[in-house]
Amino acid sequence: MTGTSLILGKDISNSIYSELSVRIQTLKNGGTVPGLAVVLVGNDPASEVYVRMKGRKCEELGMHSVTVILPEETTQEGLLEKVRELNGDRAVHGFLIQLPLPPHIDEKIIINAIDPRKDVDCFHPVNVGKMLIGEPDFLPATPAGVQQMLVRSGVDTDGKHVVVVGRSNIVGKPMAAMMMQRGIGADSTVTVVHSRTKDLPSITKQADILIVAMGRPNFITADMVKEGAVVIDVGTNRIDDPDSPKGSKLVGDVDFDSVKGKTSAISPVPGGVGPMTICMLMANTVAAAERAAVSR
Ligand code: GUN
Repeated sequence: MTGTSLILGKDISNSIYSELSVRIQTLKNGGTVPGLAVVLVGNDPASEVYVRMKGRKCEELGMHSVTVILPEETTQEGLLEKVRELNGDRAVHGFLIQLPLPPHIDEKIIINAIDPRKDVDCFHPVNVGKMLIGEPDFLPATPAGVQQMLVRSGVDTDGKHVVVVGRSNIVGKPMAAMMMQRGIGADSTVTVVHSRTKDLPSITKQADILIVAMGRPNFITADMVKEGAVVIDVGTNRIDDPDSPKGSKLVGDVDFDSVKGKTSAISPVPGGVGPMTICMLMANTVAAAERAAVSR
């Protein structure tokens, strides 16, 4: 083996942004400015950071950006009213409701109310179903980002054993569905393991490609990984770190220092999957605007 290569979402997202800039300019030349709206209810600090980053990226790309911040006490009906307004707003081609929502609002009812043509998160059941049958209008941002990292790093997925660690609706489930589809960056044999799996290491050790989205800091250690595997770490966990000025640091679900030497390629945290999520959200928004421009 010739050592380990790093799969850096930072670099990969930049090349995707260059491609998106060209498509955005073409849309603008035809009179359409792609627009994304992001709705935040309450003031969860992590969500505030994400929402700000999404708005900033839109502006950088010359897209129309709307940020809606609603108070924590917003009622479910009040939020539904905002969703209906955005469904009808012709300047907004895609929008998302930042999760989690306050406990008095039913997330499912809100997601079901989003016009599937504007559901750039790909959370609406219609879009999840289309993705599952291999006829997607949108792909969910984080799994799509992981797939792009594999494709653009030249990782062969055809017939390979992909083990997905974690079964969330946002990452694990759609990731598994996408990797088993026919096509480039897919055609894999997929196994999903999760917190209830018996002898999880015996399965992760069989992975040619290990995609980890468990939400447990440093969960995957070297003894759980096959020699030469490709490892993608979707985890973002903030843990205490007395050595850092902030008193905390971001770590993935993979114990990077111990696992790295065993892999042929690995994505670090931070700098790995992180930057890809917003990038794929922007790609979905541009795609939604292109479809809207054609049907105008
Ligand atoms: N909260 C954490 N990740 C996401 C995401 O991808 N979309 C939305 N809407 N909320 C989130």
